[in-house]
Amino acid sequence: NNGQKLELFDKTYDVDHMTNVTPSIMKKLGSNLHNRKKHPIYLIRQRIQEYFYRSYVGRTGNPLYAVFDNLSPVVPLAKNFDNLLVPPDHPSRHPKDSYYVNQNLMLRAHTTCHTCDIISAGLDRFLTVGDVYRRDEIDRTHYPVFHQMDGTRLFSAEELFQRSDHGLKLFESGGETVHKQAAHTEDTLQLLSIDLKKTLLNLTQSLFGKDISYRWVDCYFPFTHPSWELEIEYEGDWMEVLGCGILRQDILTQCGVNSKVGWAFGLGLERLAMKLYSIPDVRLFWSEDTGFLSQFNVDDCQTPIKYKEISKFPQLAQDISFWLTDVDSYSSNDFYDLARTVGGELVEQVEVIDTFTHPKSGRTSHTYRVTYRHMHRNLTTQEINQVQQQLRSRVEQDLLGTVRV
Ligand code: PHE
Repeated sequence: NNGQKLELFDKTYDVDHMTNVTPSIMKKLGSNLHNRKKHPIYLIRQRIQEYFYRSYVGRTGNPLYAVFDNLSPVVPLAKNFDNLLVPPDHPSRHPKDSYYVNQNLMLRAHTTCHTCDIISAGLDRFLTVGDVYRRDEIDRTHYPVFHQMDGTRLFSAEELFQRSDHGLKLFESGGETVHKQAAHTEDTLQLLSIDLKKTLLNLTQSLFGKDISYRWVDCYFPFTHPSWELEIEYEGDWMEVLGCGILRQDILTQCGVNSKVGWAFGLGLERLAMKLYSIPDVRLFWSEDTGFLSQFNVDDCQTPIKYKEISKFPQLAQDISFWLTDVDSYSSNDFYDLARTVGGELVEQVEVIDTFTHPKSGRTSHTYRVTYRHMHRNLTTQEINQVQQQLRSRVEQDLLGTVRV
């Protein structure tokens, strides 16, 4: 790889041992579905944005939220991880989970990566929306590129305590507990949590209706404490809507903010849009088929839409087995990426169906089942055999393994 260059958005980047972005991923950069009018990702983003515009208006009726929808997805590792206090050994840093341009730059894995910059620039209330990239399994709900929206709200003591201020304090110096950060007083924690939960529950109800059942689940993010996930009951199952929490005070200090506290949240737009519009497969968001796009042809993002499947074409499944070249450096995500690169949008799902280690030779073999289905037409066996043939050659060329016959 040495000496090679990579081109993204008219800029060239050095390639090194960390580089793992694939051509099929590079093609997605700049698609910006969140800015594409009448696209379901745009419509749901508009609904969330309108909720925040409505909820916070200035004296002259002007929105008090700023929206950033055009920040580059190519970011230094520090923005995605270090500045957000993601520990050095956190699994999300592993090249099997993230896309690296090289050892200095990556494709953002969450839109939270812009939060520090925007706080440093002096903003107290803002939303960030954009495409994010994660190496992951392949099925009807996972796609290596998806869209997220993050929101942040900071408060000064006057804003948080308002008229009830009887000498209440934002900060104290105690110890951290599971319940709160060391720097925050109990009053700070309570008022921030109430505002956070009220804002995000109202947002969720504005999307899914007033009558939904919901629950707050304690969870962990490196950049917030305490942290929660909001889940709602949807068609009989609990579904995660968003992750959120009280921003780590160390992050605010790093950004040069010393007398404010705040909360933050992040959510995935595809998952919400799939529920809201009954879209059965994430690949549809990338479809240029008018049978799909025309169903979202509305000017008002509040128009209720229920997607009607154009038709269901049959699946074709094919298996592939190979002896791994190097068990230690191999991750199944390597094969998932390759399947996407070779099979493109024809690949609906890839699963490991068998792994075993030969007792004598010590070699390890993996068997994957690749399920193909075209969104809008029938596939022929011939066409799939060709893809499988290419996939077999690439497994060997890319040194993932030796194909078994
Ligand atoms: N970035 C988190 C994710 O991708 C979501 C999040 C954002 C959680 C902000 C808390 C605060 O899952």
